[in-house]
Amino acid sequence: MSKTLQAIRGMNDILPEQTPVWRYLENTFAQLLDGYGYKEIRLPILEFTELFARGIGEGTDVVDKEMYTFLDRNEESLTLRPEGTAGCVRAVLEHGLTGGGQVQKLWYAGPMFRYEKPQKGRYRQFHQIGVEVFNQPGPDIDAELIVLTWRLWKKLGLADSVTLQLNSLGSSEARATYRDALVAYLRERFDQLDEDSQRRLTTNPLRILDSKNAQTQSLLADAPTLHDYLDEESRAHFEGLKARLDAVGIRYEINQKLVRGLDYYGRTVFEWVTDKLGAQGTVCAGGRYDGLVSQFGGKPTPGVGFAMGVERLVLLLETLELVPAELNSPAHAYLCAFGEPAELAALALAERLRDALPGLRLLVNAGGGSFKSQFKKADKSGASYALILGDDELANRVVGCKPLRTDGEQQNIAWNALAEHLAACMQA
Ligand code: HAM
Repeated sequence: MSKTLQAIRGMNDILPEQTPVWRYLENTFAQLLDGYGYKEIRLPILEFTELFARGIGEGTDVVDKEMYTFLDRNEESLTLRPEGTAGCVRAVLEHGLTGGGQVQKLWYAGPMFRYEKPQKGRYRQFHQIGVEVFNQPGPDIDAELIVLTWRLWKKLGLADSVTLQLNSLGSSEARATYRDALVAYLRERFDQLDEDSQRRLTTNPLRILDSKNAQTQSLLADAPTLHDYLDEESRAHFEGLKARLDAVGIRYEINQKLVRGLDYYGRTVFEWVTDKLGAQGTVCAGGRYDGLVSQFGGKPTPGVGFAMGVERLVLLLETLELVPAELNSPAHAYLCAFGEPAELAALALAERLRDALPGLRLLVNAGGGSFKSQFKKADKSGASYALILGDDELANRVVGCKPLRTDGEQQNIAWNALAEHLAACMQA
């Protein structure tokens, strides 16, 4: 017997009962971004592998262990995008969108792919909504990005369930000096480090700072701190950001161990974290990457952005029971018709009703059936009203309108008065 086909581990179907909350989240955010003047960009899911290797950085977990990479029929190495920033930078450069210092405020949404160990909130195909801004070097735009995510949390009812972690990674020179100091400190304690951190000491030492290992963390308590090495400009940038967050009343926690897993960051980095989802609690993360465009061969162009994890936000809304009830509203009416002449009239009538009432959710019976079976289907659909069209109603140009959720009597309504009648019912 052949094996039942299954989805790939860590790649989920998003079923019809789940899609309304996805759309709610996506639409709420798209509308909010529109209000701040951000424009949508749509990017390919596949890119040349080199883009990610150069952009995200060799030595990062994403590039070294997590990419879905393969050769296409032309022997070119391609990769399913593990994140959106690198592709967005590539597109902006390719189309000259940042030429002459033009400011771009962009957003994108879609699936990303990482070969990680699947668990609650962590998948191999997951979805991000990301935002990237180019040619805005100041802390004002870093603040705007954080402010607009904060507005989203308030709209979704999540403001009390997420906290903001903030850090500055300084300039690349400051980071390099700090890295040397940290490596020197940790080398003297090499044997006490966990295995992963021992490896990272040569590949990506700053990542040791966010090690989950308790012994490594206690070693780090006396290690040199990044902020002692910050350059003046980065310090001023960070102060400017904090002043703006204070001005709008956004609370934050400065976390000097927040270094992020992608190599392109410098200066501002931030994460919105919740304690309601277990281990995978970061729902939104980002930072500044002023060196990335020039790393891809463009003129030096400041960049800053973030991405939020849609699965995690959906989980959070569900966990906190914040999914608005009206997202799963049933139909207003279910139209039953008996016999072919009535079916033909019903179809034409339904289309006229849709023309007249754009918000109408109307189900038209398909597949025929007795009065009893159609009525049962109408009831099961959850619709508020059954509309009934048989030979008698057809002859009199009326439909029977029967409330299904209240005790009201069935009434005959003339076809030409039906839209008005349903409009009143829709408002009730
Ligand atoms: P990231 O921190 O790798 O950053 O991912 C951003 C968010 O995507 C995470 O905070 C999390 O919510 C979600 N996420 C990441 N991996 C998974 C996964 N395996 N399963 C479910 N959700 C996940 C970036 O990707 C950067 N490109 C963000 C950015 C944009 N920085 C500047 N601009």
